[in-house]
Amino acid sequence: MKVLVTGCAGFIGYHVVRRLLADGDAVVGLDHLGPYYDPALKRARVADLRRAGPLEFHVGDLADFERLRALAADVDVVLHLAAQPGVRHALLDPFSYERSNLLGMLHVLEVVRRRIPPPRLVWASSSSVYGGNARTPFAEADRVDDPLSLYAATKRAGELLAHSYRHLFGLETLGLRFFTVYGPWGRPDMAYWRFTEALFDDRPLEIYGDAAASRDMTYIDDVVDGVVAAVRRSVPDELLNLGNAEPIPLDRLVQTIERAVGRVARRIAAPPQPGDVATTFADLARAEAALGYRPRVRLEEGIARFVDWYRWWRSVR
Ligand SMILES: NC(=O)c1ccc[n+]([C@@H]2O[C@H](COP(=O)([O-])OP(=O)(O)OC[C@H]3O[C@@H](n4cnc5c(N)ncnc54)[C@H](O)[C@@H]3O)[C@@H](O)[C@H]2O)c1
Repeated sequence: MKVLVTGCAGFIGYHVVRRLLADGDAVVGLDHLGPYYDPALKRARVADLRRAGPLEFHVGDLADFERLRALAADVDVVLHLAAQPGVRHALLDPFSYERSNLLGMLHVLEVVRRRIPPPRLVWASSSSVYGGNARTPFAEADRVDDPLSLYAATKRAGELLAHSYRHLFGLETLGLRFFTVYGPWGRPDMAYWRFTEALFDDRPLEIYGDAAASRDMTYIDDVVDGVVAAVRRSVPDELLNLGNAEPIPLDRLVQTIERAVGRVARRIAAPPQPGDVATTFADLARAEAALGYRPRVRLEEGIARFVDWYRWWRSVR
């Protein structure tokens, strides 16, 4: 199988491409190596992928439509993971979300529908689309019209764009709603990385808002299982949750990291951040039925693996 992976230098893209290369699939990768977080980490991921197999990697932007079209010319599946992530960054740079998440998504859809026959499209949505929903666990059939951040609004917009293209052109699209993915080679802007870094640096941890706030945290290998199943399998679904179905309170996350690092944190209470939600919690019935998705890695194990990797990364970066 030949797969175009956008965002292949990113955290999730890196891990999925590693698995695809190991399985013998042909991979064309695209990433603009943007500066949202340290591009050296993105380059290190690409270097590691090149050691793993014959990756065809291109530095380029989703905004370059003709380039994207050329890269998708003969692939079986487009796996679209590139996006501007982050809830808080949108307050500083809203237009990066317009370019990567709105224009980028439309470009991907147009590239797919202009191919005859169109390749399948699997792409990254987000649990953030559930926004302020009170009923848990979050199920795909729930109404999602209360996004609490610009990031969430652009991901929901992507779902609606894909929906209209399915209706207009009969495309086969599958949006995966990821729930707080963590693990080795992760993202430095996410809480589990920032807490670990602060502990290593012997700095206090800033705890924003309520320490009882919780996130359904999903270990990267479980997410890769779900994404690769979605790449290989044609399913009738339009949207599927990929989570862990166990919301982890912030307090428990901090304690788990403390145990893995072997230090106790000093904590500073900070005000809640605009755009944050109280909880996320995935209903996984549909993903299990469609993809055989069943997460396996528990938080303690996943965080221990991350901390081991992070120790190594600090020693080589
Ligand atoms: N990690 C999570 O917890 C999580 C949760 C929900 C959804 N997601 C979504 O999953 C996808 C992957 O997330 P990630 O955690 O790997 O993030 P990431 O930032 O590590 O990876 C995204 C990659 O896309 C690239 N990119 C961004 N805009 C681009 C553009 N215009 N052109 C080309 N490349 C571009 C970036 O350089 C980056 O390498 C994203 O769509 C994200 O919104 C992630």
